[in-house]
Amino acid sequence: MQRIAIIGGTGLTRLSGPEVIQEHWLETPLGKPSGAIQEGRWEGCEVLFLARHGHPHAVPPHRVNYRANLLALKELGADAILAVNAVGGIHPLMGAGALVVPDQIVDLTHGRDNTFFDGDYLPLDHIDFTEPFDAGLRQQLLKAGRDCGFAVHDRAVVAVTQGPRLETAAEINYLERIGCDLVGMTSMPEAALARELGIPYASLALVVNPAAGRSDSLITMDDIRAVLDQGMDKVRDMLARVLVN
Ligand code: HPA
Repeated sequence: MQRIAIIGGTGLTRLSGPEVIQEHWLETPLGKPSGAIQEGRWEGCEVLFLARHGHPHAVPPHRVNYRANLLALKELGADAILAVNAVGGIHPLMGAGALVVPDQIVDLTHGRDNTFFDGDYLPLDHIDFTEPFDAGLRQQLLKAGRDCGFAVHDRAVVAVTQGPRLETAAEINYLERIGCDLVGMTSMPEAALARELGIPYASLALVVNPAAGRSDSLITMDDIRAVLDQGMDKVRDMLARVLVN
C-alpha cells in the first residue's frame, strides 16, 4: 500500500479526516522535525502528516528544519509527498481563494540548509531539477480538483522568498516580470530535498492574499485567516480525493 505524506502549511496544522494510529516524535541525524508526525488511516490509505511550522504554528519559514522534516518522512516510509502551501497571488487570474498546482519554482531563499549533498551528511552530488514537481502527482491533484468540482489552476511559477516579511510592491513587479505567478516562502528547499531523497513531490497552493501592491489595501493577517478558513476545507476535500483515487 502507498504511504502518502502530507506536509501541511499555514492553516493546516492538523488533519481532521484521518484516524490517527500513532504519533512519531523522531530525532534525525540532522536534528528534529517541526513536530510530531501523525500516522493515520484516511479513505482506506496510510497517511503521514507533518505540520511544517509545528503545532501550534510557531516555526517561521526560514527556520524550518526542512532537512530533518524530509529525513523523518523518508524514515517513516513516505512513498510520495503532497505539500500544501499558502501563497500570495501575482497573476491577475490567481486571486485570493484560488487553488493552484504549480509546475515551476524560482528560488530566492538564502541561508537555509538546502541540500543533503553538502559534503558532510552526504558526498557532493547534483540532482536534475528541471521539473521540480512530480508530473504524476500533479495530475492526481488536478483530477482530485475536477472530481470535487473545484476550479484548480494547472501550472504556475512560484517564487520562493526568504520572509518572514512579505514583499515590497516593487519586488512583486520584478517577480512578475521574470515570469512568476505566485509567491510563497516554503516550497524551497523542501521540493529539492524531496528530489534528493528520490521521493515524488507536488504542491497544492492556496492563494490567501493578492501579492503586495496588487490590491488597494494592505495585507492583514485577519484577511489572510478569513481566506485560509474556507480555502483549507477545499484543500482537505482534494487531499481526501487523491487518497480515494
Ligand atoms: N508573499 C509570500 N509568502 C506568502 C504570501 C505573500 O504574499 N502570502 C502567503 N504566503
